Amino acid sequence: MDPDKYYPFKAAPLAYDIKALCPDISEYTMYFHHDKHYCGYVDKLNGLIKNSPLMQNIPLEGLAMLDDDDIRKNAGGVYNHEMYFSSLTPQYREPSAKMIKKMNESFGSAEKMMSSLAGAAMDITGSGWVWLAENRNGRLEILVTKDQDIIDPDKYSPLLNIDLWEHAYYLDRQNRRNEYIQAVMNSINWIGAENRMKDI
Ligand SMILES: [Fe+2]
Repeated sequence: MDPDKYYPFKAAPLAYDIKALCPDISEYTMYFHHDKHYCGYVDKLNGLIKNSPLMQNIPLEGLAMLDDDDIRKNAGGVYNHEMYFSSLTPQYREPSAKMIKKMNESFGSAEKMMSSLAGAAMDITGSGWVWLAENRNGRLEILVTKDQDIIDPDKYSPLLNIDLWEHAYYLDRQNRRNEYIQAVMNSINWIGAENRMKDI
């Protein structure tokens, strides 16, 4: 994803086939999530700022931090979903030794980090996001944002996120959010997360 991109925004295609995460995340869910929900945010954001040269000169990340509720929500919907789809991969690989070291330093062990991430996802009420981020001291943190809020880019570099809006899992899992979280944990793109780290 590119947080610095500007109007007019274009929906980023999935980096993998729409069926690639089946059966963990179905083609049906991925279609509605990417082609309808995410692309809908792109279209709405473009529509909101089509007559505003001022807004068109603000990058996506900045739009997602504005006080204007409509622009912030839709820019956040674009930003968050681009991070989400790129946080997943059908070719799962364990975190590298470098990432494991970072997890150990920040959480005591990789297992504690994984269980904290999954636990934060389980604990969300309403719609929101769980993030793994690197703070300005080079430590990993797990953060939660509500609705389509992003994490503060001045304080954190986002490494990955998990979408906990019901549209992310309800078609496949109904109320079994735990199954969805486990499916995501088994599909995390750790290479992509590591590539977003600043302190490497
Ligand atoms: Fe979503």
